[in-house]
Amino acid sequence: MSDLRVLIVTSSPSTTCVGVILAGGSGSRLYPCTTVTNKHLLPIGEMPMIFYPIKKLVAAGITDILIVTGTEHMGDFISLLGSGKDFNCSLTYRVQDEAGGIAQALALAERFTNKQPMCVMLGDNIFENSISGLITQFLSEPDNAHILLKEVPDAERFGVAEMDGDSRTIVRRIVEKPQDPPSKYAVTGVYCYPPDVFEVIRTLTPSGRGEFEITDVNNIYLSQRRLHASFLDGYWSDAGTFPSLARANELVRQSPPQY
Ligand code: DAU
Repeated sequence: MSDLRVLIVTSSPSTTCVGVILAGGSGSRLYPCTTVTNKHLLPIGEMPMIFYPIKKLVAAGITDILIVTGTEHMGDFISLLGSGKDFNCSLTYRVQDEAGGIAQALALAERFTNKQPMCVMLGDNIFENSISGLITQFLSEPDNAHILLKEVPDAERFGVAEMDGDSRTIVRRIVEKPQDPPSKYAVTGVYCYPPDVFEVIRTLTPSGRGEFEITDVNNIYLSQRRLHASFLDGYWSDAGTFPSLARANELVRQSPPQY
């Protein structure tokens, strides 16, 4: 009888995604509280701010996470978070030498992501609901980028989505901190990107404020008809100014985030 060997080769679609938390920047709008520490180490509720994005990602099944921060306080992040074992995840760290913008910070994740799709979170965004649904939707079409919008009363502080007519889903363009916002829909700091985001970032030039803007990245995906937008339910706040830091604390106190 002949020795029959069967080699089964399986190819499954990409069903996993890695996490990237951007926690650099100067925190200048929170001076003097950020003179000797990093904004993301300040308390929100009963935890340091950085705990919230980590817990959101882990709860959505994303356990391979890169944290990007500046040189000044990297040691404090490592002392606080370690390997990630207390969060049931694996943490990797990368230094952003200067605060050159969110897209510049994300560019540092290229080797870490290793051609996998990714969920990127700004470390100062605090919100109520789980991102599990977003991740499932993103991974069903991982070649498209996905952003989350939120209606706010002070859109001029954020990236703002100009919608197609009365549509709540078709974005025409995104404008960064417009004086006269084209809608009330802020772009939140939760973004999902395919691995080619790094090629997109390489085409960017610095904005008027000298930063590599994530809004420019999103507008490029829009021009390629590869940007999905949906709305974030529940509360959402950034925490980068004294009023928004106080607001984020109050929201968390009233109703702790869900994971
Ligand atoms: O919060 C959402 C908003 O975040 C978006 O609507 C805007 O489109 C986006 O540009 C951003 O606006 P901000 O002006 O609030 O971004 P900020 O400079 O405060 O940075 C947000 C986070 O990104 C911060 O927690 C740390 C990280 N970051 C920022 C910069 C400039 C870095 O890791 N490296 C950086 O160089």
